[in-house]
Amino acid sequence: MDNNETAVSPRKDHIMIVDDDPITRRLMALHLSGPYEVAAAASGFEALELLRDDPLPDIILLDVIMPGIDGLEVCRRLRDNPRWADISVIFITILGDEFDEKKGLELGAVDYIAKPIKRDLLCLRVKNHLRLKRLQNDLHSMVARKSAELTNSLRQIEHKNLELNYLFESMSKIQASRDCYTAEHAMRVAVISVHIGRRLGVSEQELKILEQGCYVHDIGKVAIPDDVLLKPGRFDKQDRQIMEYHPLIGGQIFSRHFAESRMLNIILQHHERLDGSGYPHGLEEAAIDPLARIVMVADVYEALIARRPYKQPMKRDKALTIINNDAERGMFDDSVVDCLIQETVDWDPLTVIFDSSIPYQDVLEKFRQKTYFREPLSEFFNYRYLIFLDDRRLLIPTDTHYHLIRLDFSGLKMVNQRLGYIKTDQIIDTIGIQTNMLVETCRGQKKLGESELMFFRKGAGYLIYSHAAENILESLMNDCRWLVEELCEEYGITPLMSLMKFDKGQDLAMALESLYN
Ligand SMILES: [Fe+2]
Repeated sequence: MDNNETAVSPRKDHIMIVDDDPITRRLMALHLSGPYEVAAAASGFEALELLRDDPLPDIILLDVIMPGIDGLEVCRRLRDNPRWADISVIFITILGDEFDEKKGLELGAVDYIAKPIKRDLLCLRVKNHLRLKRLQNDLHSMVARKSAELTNSLRQIEHKNLELNYLFESMSKIQASRDCYTAEHAMRVAVISVHIGRRLGVSEQELKILEQGCYVHDIGKVAIPDDVLLKPGRFDKQDRQIMEYHPLIGGQIFSRHFAESRMLNIILQHHERLDGSGYPHGLEEAAIDPLARIVMVADVYEALIARRPYKQPMKRDKALTIINNDAERGMFDDSVVDCLIQETVDWDPLTVIFDSSIPYQDVLEKFRQKTYFREPLSEFFNYRYLIFLDDRRLLIPTDTHYHLIRLDFSGLKMVNQRLGYIKTDQIIDTIGIQTNMLVETCRGQKKLGESELMFFRKGAGYLIYSHAAENILESLMNDCRWLVEELCEEYGITPLMSLMKFDKGQDLAMALESLYN
């Protein structure tokens, strides 16, 4: 051994002897003081007093019958005190005395030894109990170590789950950057599905998969061209074919890393139907994941009740009637539909609003909308842009009335037959350009803001929206009528103009309906 090294002797085990009989006390101390550190107390009170100091004994040899407090009471107080509760107690009894062993063991004693004390027996018992205690301590340390490791692993799993959630959130934002409606739809479908799932008794673990799967169920739409993805109005056959690729595209995005995941089932199967009428694979009942069965119902319900620039929101009752009818036809799982009905009695999923905070989103969105809402071959926004602005509350101050001017033409059919569709379009365009110049002049002269007076294409005609003063609108309409009549006369068509005033807060879509019906 190096001279600088200090030998560390192993800690001696500590034994405390508690006995009111001095001879027994001394005798036991004599037997044990070689291999162990021994302390002795002549009464229960003295023992408890000594136990206030460190180091605590590993074993207490405790006489049962003592004046003051007896051994059983001392043992009880030891167990009641967390600092002392782990000390092993061996009772010392007198052979032939009536000692309630059961009571002693119930109080937590590990053993008992009968007087007169036999040296070998005492040393062996103490040695064995110390060994047991060491094993127990080792076991406790191992359990504590393993528990710490487990806690650490759980923390790591929690962290990974959190990271995974961020990942899905990021994917939602990717969707939002392409089409904010798809992202909002995904978010609502997730909330509706979790509501249904919870009512159906789906486990918490599956609910997590369900929620995350919903966030990305339409992720394949990122690959769908704008002309289809953002198309206002009804799809034709080809649009539908293109759109129906989205579950497969989404499935392919996820299949590599989530090959066994039920999330993949949600992406691939949310447009399947239990009767085999869905897409992309026409799967039937048993082949469709129960989680996908929930999502398919939530997906349809959200699509029906949501407001979009190209469609009006549908009332809950009407949407549920449609879904119920489809369930009766065997498309949806009845129990899922029942849960949807119950969940939406006093909860409206439209209260869930997607809050997108992507940098430059406003600029990008404005540009995209311009393209989206521009009428083909025309320089004017179509009327859907007006609905969109209203939808976003960007248009009408709620505290003022507004006007709509409708401009249509009769006799276009004849012009079509005579000059062809292209020429007819050019005529309508020319009329639109001239009329819009009048609108812009009016806006400039009256110092109106852009959203106070707007000009839109609607079908083969035009629409003017304004919340400027009524006399300004009447005068503008007269100017327009004069101009349009003159232009129309040239081509043998007749202009039809009407102006309607709407009260403050009147729903724009309903106003349009009354103007055009
Ligand atoms: Fe979808």
